[in-house]
Amino acid sequence: MRNKTMEIPRIAFLLLFLCQIPSSLTSDEPETFIIHVSKSEKPAIFTSHHHWYTSILLSLSPSPKILYTYKHAVNGFSTRLTPSQAEELRRLSGILSVLSDRIHQLHTTRTPHFLGLTDSFGLWPNSDYADDVVIGVLDTGIWPERRSFSDSELSPVPAGWKGICETGPDFPASACNRKIIGARAFYRGYEAGRGRPINETVESKSPRDTEGHGTHTASTAAGSAVSNAGFYKFATGIARGMATKARIAAYKICWKSGCYDSDILAAMDQAIADGVDVISLSVGATGYAPQYDHDSIAIGAFGAAQKGVLVSCSAGNSGPGPYTAVNIAPWILTVGAATIDREFPADVVLGDGRVYGGVSLYSGDSLENSNLPLVYAGDCGSKLCYPGKLDSSKVAGKIVVCDRGGNARVEKGSAVKLAGGAGMILANTDDSGEELIADSHLVPATMVGQIAGDKIRDYVRSQPSATATILFRGTVIGGSPSAPKVAAFSSRGPNHQTPEILKPDLIAPGVNILAGWTGFSSPTDLEIDPRRVEFNIISGTSMSCPHVSGLAALLRKAYPKWTPAALKSALMTTAYHLDNAGKNITDLATGQESTPFIHGAGHVDPNRALDPGLVYDISVSDYVAFLCAIGYDSKRIAIFSRDHSTVECGAESLSGPGDLNYPSFAVVFGSKSNRDVVRYRRVVRNVGSSVDAVYEAKVHAPPSVQVSVSPSKLVFSAENQSLSYEITFSNVAVDLTGLVRSRFGSIQWSDGVHLVRSPIAFSWQSGTVSSI
Ligand SMILES: *[C@@H]1O[C@H](CO)[C@@H](O)[C@H](O)[C@H]1NC(C)=O
Ligand SMILES: *[C@@H]1O[C@H](CO)[C@@H](O)[C@H](O)[C@H]1NC(C)=O
Ligand SMILES: *[C@@H]1O[C@H](CO)[C@@H](O)[C@H](O)[C@H]1NC(C)=O
Repeated sequence: MRNKTMEIPRIAFLLLFLCQIPSSLTSDEPETFIIHVSKSEKPAIFTSHHHWYTSILLSLSPSPKILYTYKHAVNGFSTRLTPSQAEELRRLSGILSVLSDRIHQLHTTRTPHFLGLTDSFGLWPNSDYADDVVIGVLDTGIWPERRSFSDSELSPVPAGWKGICETGPDFPASACNRKIIGARAFYRGYEAGRGRPINETVESKSPRDTEGHGTHTASTAAGSAVSNAGFYKFATGIARGMATKARIAAYKICWKSGCYDSDILAAMDQAIADGVDVISLSVGATGYAPQYDHDSIAIGAFGAAQKGVLVSCSAGNSGPGPYTAVNIAPWILTVGAATIDREFPADVVLGDGRVYGGVSLYSGDSLENSNLPLVYAGDCGSKLCYPGKLDSSKVAGKIVVCDRGGNARVEKGSAVKLAGGAGMILANTDDSGEELIADSHLVPATMVGQIAGDKIRDYVRSQPSATATILFRGTVIGGSPSAPKVAAFSSRGPNHQTPEILKPDLIAPGVNILAGWTGFSSPTDLEIDPRRVEFNIISGTSMSCPHVSGLAALLRKAYPKWTPAALKSALMTTAYHLDNAGKNITDLATGQESTPFIHGAGHVDPNRALDPGLVYDISVSDYVAFLCAIGYDSKRIAIFSRDHSTVECGAESLSGPGDLNYPSFAVVFGSKSNRDVVRYRRVVRNVGSSVDAVYEAKVHAPPSVQVSVSPSKLVFSAENQSLSYEITFSNVAVDLTGLVRSRFGSIQWSDGVHLVRSPIAFSWQSGTVSSI
């Protein structure tokens, strides 16, 4: 499932190759299509939608086979058709869209404490640890026998839960309990797409996780507390998920060679019907985010939002380039990844006495000799250290410096081992900067940043008798280096589809995260690795997403009546943007200050989210108005709202997509409709304990933009009262130098008790700069 030739394996993210399938396949072989149908156009003679769909298909093919019928997240079905049959189908009335199924690939002990979660006050005790809230984890399944899924402290399965435990030879009824209350597997799209059944000696057709990813994300979101947890000697202590009393429903949607839209949609559809409260989805497109109406996750998430289900997704691991964030629809909570205050240091000591800090989870014997000859892999046949490509006569008994990139990081170490090398220094290059990810290497090995890497490479090349050793220092917790920092891999904005909506929404722990693992495969997912572990430490926005899913579950319990948008607003407006050293959060890709295009509203701060003061709420009809504002016609909108007849873009439309009542701001000067003045309206609801709170606005803006807020004081007088304000941004000067076409600011409302902060990103479209 993880592509062994790329680096993705240790940065876990389920990838959908949404943008990479050529749409005009020349052959007329059958493939899977997802068909969105207008609910209200079912002719009365058909007793059910399924009956109607079958009859539609019979007009095209003598033996139609429906893979799935979708009812809850979207309205429609998936089936096998030839491209020309699909073309015919597109012309039938009632058919909203016919989309090709896409082939997809796989893109703790410390974190509760780092997040300030404690038993004595704040979100944990005030939400009863999300007791009875159900998190649907759509992933690679679950390994149920882990201690993280113990139900010993839990009350009975919530009444009203409609999900089931799909059992099979390797998934007995006992696999489900009061923690794992549902488990299902979705593989019809996968099998149809590959044209052959699942090989059950290679992977389990049941909800059992043979990969590890799904067990990790589920235990991060809602794992029970486990004492004496750890990965070998690293990160030892009590491991616990964010919402220890929340229930898990595992929906297996990802298989050895991928995850398919048709299966993901079926799982979202089912999760909604089963009664989940939160959907956690560490899956997304590779490449740039597709248009919303071609993005099955966005379409399914809209249906979830309609049913009051919050959908939390990973932003992707395609950083640090701009526009790389995926899952960017405004009704999705989009999560980037950051470090925590825990490190696994393993220093490089060079023969000349210089010491460079690195990180490693290598758990075997240390290097016996403190002064081993040091060589650069680029001089030994393969600078990226591909297995079988290193010249043994040059590396045997030596420490090898390998460049990061190209293949899996742990595989580089095994390539060194295969060639008889004694150890490895994995050195970053331009692409990875100073981002360090600790790996459970199979040889004594450490990873260093680009700056240290360059010095080490220089040393090897200038010093014929270069030597080095590696000092492994175990687990170190503390304020140095400062945390959080945004991971270089974390995908970034601006928003590729709608630059007026800031994405990602926020960041959360996603680097070196300890959580549960499958018993089926090794912690490195390499076949040569014989180890099996209860816990594993991995990194990715896949890891940050379930942290936020768990926190959202806690908030859902504290505020059962809030919409998903209100919960998201609470998480965003209370997020922080200063690290534990009091500095603006750093971006590991550059070592410079991170920006709202990188960290969104900031780093999630759960205890503050419990008492946000004000919330920016959004209803489903607001999202429809948003779709109108980006120019969708009623047929395209009906794919989301599911009914052709009910959509009208009219008087209530927004002045532009940025006018949506979003808890953050993105202002684009020089775009078609707005040149130098952009005005947005917002509505905030007082959810604080003081009915007559008075909030005052404070704005930070760059010199190039003038911002005015009207009114600048909000005087509340009734419970749950909503008040609106208007914020006007005027482009007064251009202070942009070089290629930078963005600046940042914020608006902060305060009543003396609460700080309700929204970031503002300003960007200038081509043309404006030269015209001034
Ligand atoms: C299933 O996989 C096993 C192990 O790779 C292989 O030996 C077997 O031939 C496969 N079976 C089928 C039906 O492909
Ligand atoms: C953080 O960045 C903002 C905007 O660039 C700046 O105004 C502020 O002084 C910085 N804060 C700190 C503590 O460095
Ligand atoms: C205010 O909102 C809360 C939570 O949604 C609700 O319980 C309460 O009844 C509301 N009060 C009024 C006056 O609407």
